[in-house]
Amino acid sequence: MAHKDNSKEKIVYVGDSRVRKGSGFITPPDYTAYPGKSEAFIPNFLLKEWMVGVVVLVGFLVLTIAEPAPLGYPANPTASVIPMPDWYFLFLYQFLKYPYASGDYVVLGTLGIPGVAFGSLLLAPFLDRGKERRFYKRPIASSLMFLSLASIVYLTNFAWTHYQEELKATGQVPEHIQREEEAREKREQGLPTSNAPKQQEVAIVDKDDPAMETYKKATCVSCHAADLKGAAGPSLRGVGDKHGKEEIMSIIKEGYNGKMPAVYDTAISAGVTDEELDHLAEWLAKQKTEQ
Ligand code: HEC
Repeated sequence: MAHKDNSKEKIVYVGDSRVRKGSGFITPPDYTAYPGKSEAFIPNFLLKEWMVGVVVLVGFLVLTIAEPAPLGYPANPTASVIPMPDWYFLFLYQFLKYPYASGDYVVLGTLGIPGVAFGSLLLAPFLDRGKERRFYKRPIASSLMFLSLASIVYLTNFAWTHYQEELKATGQVPEHIQREEEAREKREQGLPTSNAPKQQEVAIVDKDDPAMETYKKATCVSCHAADLKGAAGPSLRGVGDKHGKEEIMSIIKEGYNGKMPAVYDTAISAGVTDEELDHLAEWLAKQKTEQ
């Protein structure tokens, strides 16, 4: 290849590329002939691409870390919903409603026709091999494209209209819209709009009472947790609202509801005294939500 600047040499390029016309296969060009105008794909160009890729990726990560994905509403299995795909799949969704694409023909509808459509998109460079570049000089490819675009728009619109009609016919309001409206009404009335019901944290009464030690020693902690919020057993915070001292004493001695075993013997053999248990029951009875 030309390393020397020989201005008399007539250079013929292939098409609009900088690749010289040769005979037979196009030989890989030697880019040293174009200093500053081109560069090797490997490693120079690829490295730059990777750098950009990394910057974008890190930017993305920073964004996702900065703004954690919000928890949505808890799913409500009893709500009646009309399941809908995201908008960009609406056309396929609508397509599957047609008799020749569903029922006995569902394989045709799900794999056959979309497969041919997307497959031919992949094969376009091999199928549409004319020299012409302008779309109006490539009637087959262009008309297929316009036909596809038109049918996608049509099907999407149809699916959405159908959905709206179904909603109206069944008198449904999608849950997220219902909630939005509720939130708007609340805002207008000046009420807090936070959608998740805020659970009032019930504090432990007399946290530093020696009963806390007994609670651990008597193994209550293994089922009701060190913070009293419950594990295998229920939370004992505010349990004084429900049970008095005597009741709690009998819960310890006899178990509760058949689900909590009697733990009295276990506690005694763990070295807990009767007085300590008595005090524990007293302390638990003091655990009330309102003080
Ligand atoms: C093996 C696990 C386990 C251990 C150990 C245990 N509990 Fe329980 N406890 C439970 C379960 C389960 C329930 C809920 C029973 C039910 O569903 O009614 C319960 C319920 C209770 C209740 C009634 C709560 C309510 O909301 O009505 C009290 C009070 C209680 N436990 C106190 C204790 C105390 C005090 C100890 C320690 C001496 C203790 N528990 C040890 C499993 C345990």
